[in-house]
Amino acid sequence: MTNAIVICSFILPFFVNAETLKEAYKDHFLMGTIWHGYKLGNDSRNRYIVKEKGITAAEFNAVTPENCMKPMFIQPEEGVFTFAESDEMIEFAEANNLVVVGHTLVWKNQTPAWFFLDDKGGQVSREVLIERLKMHIRTVVSRYRGRIDYWDVVNEAVAVDRSEGKRNQTASYKSTPWLEIIGPEYIEIAYRTAHEADPSAKLLYNDYNLDTEVKLDFSLALIADLKSRGVPIAGLGYQGHLFLKEPSLTAIERVLRKTKQADVPLHITELDVSVLPNAWEHRSASVEERFKLDKKLNPYPDGVPQKILAEQAKRYSDVFSLLLQYSDNIERVTFWGVWDGNSWRDYRPMLGRTDYPLLIDRKFEKKPAYDAVINLVK
Ligand code: XIL
Repeated sequence: MTNAIVICSFILPFFVNAETLKEAYKDHFLMGTIWHGYKLGNDSRNRYIVKEKGITAAEFNAVTPENCMKPMFIQPEEGVFTFAESDEMIEFAEANNLVVVGHTLVWKNQTPAWFFLDDKGGQVSREVLIERLKMHIRTVVSRYRGRIDYWDVVNEAVAVDRSEGKRNQTASYKSTPWLEIIGPEYIEIAYRTAHEADPSAKLLYNDYNLDTEVKLDFSLALIADLKSRGVPIAGLGYQGHLFLKEPSLTAIERVLRKTKQADVPLHITELDVSVLPNAWEHRSASVEERFKLDKKLNPYPDGVPQKILAEQAKRYSDVFSLLLQYSDNIERVTFWGVWDGNSWRDYRPMLGRTDYPLLIDRKFEKKPAYDAVINLVK
């Protein structure tokens, strides 16, 4: 081997010569990932973030901010906007030809309490909350007018009541301070205000568990109702936080099929496939309880068996086969993370677990799941 070849093999980017995700899927849909942001160590001295950014630029053509545009970070106090991280992300996206997705304007979570309180600490009036909602949206959306392609305007506004048992699930507007104080009109106000602030941005409604049929139906009815009244809404975002075995492929396919039938463009907005047991019911477990649950809910703290990675690759392959089947109605598939070393699945719904949900492993190597996804379009 000549010296030149030795040097090249060290300095050339990791993914050189191989086909990338965005190239492999360019005739089907955008392939996106997230910008983790400072909160999770976006520091130029942090070599992991530098690597992540390299992979993002090489492999993906869309980016969503994981946290920095959420209300608690972008307007932590009334009238105090912190745009530095979002500015940086958008500059990075523009330098690397990434489609930008804004996330998110109206949500129950990660929204500071001040929105809902008056100056005496009581509940704010409806009029004031509507003004705050509009002011927040106008300020954030207009700052990036023309530079953000899609906005997740309202996030997670639909709830499923399971109290009557599985057979009688019903969906309704999720109980949030937005709903309690303003009523369901907060949704319409949000979309209209976002559209006025940036008429060129495509506005999405984003939610999880759309594989639950009543939730899907409710969400599609909500979109149809908004559209029928001229509210500018351009598509549905299905988060796609999956597990190895749930939800079923049938339930996933139903999302793709019904969305297409309803003529609502679909985005898979936050895809990952956890290999751990579903722990959402233990989300508020006490430390003691968690300790006991640990072995059961955190089975691979020191490394994941090949067999599990093969199962995960099969799962990704099954899911992407469906996505390809419905690709004429799917605009984008975004992964909720770049590599297993930086995933929310490690700390939600409970802290301290070790998950392996993405296509690239903790050593920045491609996993069987990566190959499975690429091989479908080879
Ligand atoms: C998560 C982030 O990944 C975490 O870092 C943060 O602590 C909580 O939020 N649905 C969404 C995303 O719409 O914004 C959430 O992101 C994951 C669930």
